[in-house]
Amino acid sequence: MVRGLSKAEYKGENNINQLADKLASMGVDEKAVEQVREFALQEKHHGEVTEAIINKYAPKENDNNSNKPVYVCKVCGFEYVGDLDKEPDDYKCPICAMPKTAFEKKIL
Ligand SMILES: [Fe+2]
Repeated sequence: MVRGLSKAEYKGENNINQLADKLASMGVDEKAVEQVREFALQEKHHGEVTEAIINKYAPKENDNNSNKPVYVCKVCGFEYVGDLDKEPDDYKCPICAMPKTAFEKKIL
């Protein structure tokens, strides 16, 4: 789950930077755009911190999960490892709260 969180944080950085670019192109106040870019840097930092935690404490990605399916949330990039069909119908992405239908199986 933390691996998915880390990837989602990095994806959040990209999405927020795109938002900042769009706001800048619309002529939004420069200080507001800078604040949005600061939010993107915070997302990047979160990704770096969670990645460092993973590298320090977690087993390597393929140690236990190499034969399990992986589903990726199309909205935030969170990766669910295991049989998503075993989750209840009202399962939601722990990062962005999208429903199971927002996930697609990752082709490895
Ligand atoms: Fe998500």
